[in-house]
Amino acid sequence: MSAPDRYAVFGHPVGHSRSPGLHARFAELTGQLITYEAIDVPPDGFAAALERFLATGGKGLNITVPHKLAAFDAADVLTPRAQHAGAVNTLALQAHGLLGDNTDGAGLLRDLQHNLEIPLAGRRILLVGAGGAARGVLGPLLGAEPAVVVIANRSPRRAEELATRFASDGPVSGIALDGAQDTFDLVINATSASLSDEVPALDTRIIGARTFCYDLAYGTGLTAFLRWASAHGCAAVADGLGMLVEQAAESFELWRGVRPPTAQVLTELRDAMARP
Ligand code: ATR
Repeated sequence: MSAPDRYAVFGHPVGHSRSPGLHARFAELTGQLITYEAIDVPPDGFAAALERFLATGGKGLNITVPHKLAAFDAADVLTPRAQHAGAVNTLALQAHGLLGDNTDGAGLLRDLQHNLEIPLAGRRILLVGAGGAARGVLGPLLGAEPAVVVIANRSPRRAEELATRFASDGPVSGIALDGAQDTFDLVINATSASLSDEVPALDTRIIGARTFCYDLAYGTGLTAFLRWASAHGCAAVADGLGMLVEQAAESFELWRGVRPPTAQVLTELRDAMARP
């Protein structure tokens, strides 16, 4: 029997990453022979770590904070969605070199449209945040043909710049956080505020009885933003655990050519996280 192909996630910190567990389960359920490890790569150590990984037979990587831009620069070829996002979260060693892809947006769309059955076409979407996470999902969101995507950000200038960058993809505008004052169908929190249990300073009028609220972040309970949205009477909420599983599955499929059963793995992960 041949040796298993080697995969890993590069990040800093990376100890909390759920990727090794997810990919091990994907491999088990699809009968793929792989190894997958978490490698802590310091902020200035990406190039050396990549060289070492490839020299020792590495076949593919997931890339997380703070290395998505370094991975973008290191790729020999980029998929159009990685090119557009300006960041890479997946590297695959292929015959023509190192392919850089970005599966974050596809993961979000699959979770929203397939798992949660939230329609996007013709809907009004508020995207909160204008950093790397927002940029990674904006192209795919606009591709779903919403009526509009309004980007609201603490620093309005970053929101305007992001809207300008994606203007040819569909109707998109950028404003200040409190500039959004009418009701949206879908509000997506793509800020890092959840990581410090903070809520972006949004106007409560964005939430109506039919508004669905989504946070790219996730934890054991609801994020501060989702608790805030629920308290203001939104229709339903979901955190980013489904997106995490779906973006991992997209990477796995790119590497192995087979799609893992994500619904089952997401249920298992939620059950495991709910256990004390
Ligand atoms: P990421 O890659 O996670 O997007 P980032 O590029 O540092 O990280 O962007 C963080 C985003 O969260 C930004 O939109 C930031 O707003 P600013 O551009 O104004 O800094 C937003 N953010 C972080 N903490 C926030 C808070 N407490 N309230 C509102 N927005 C916040």
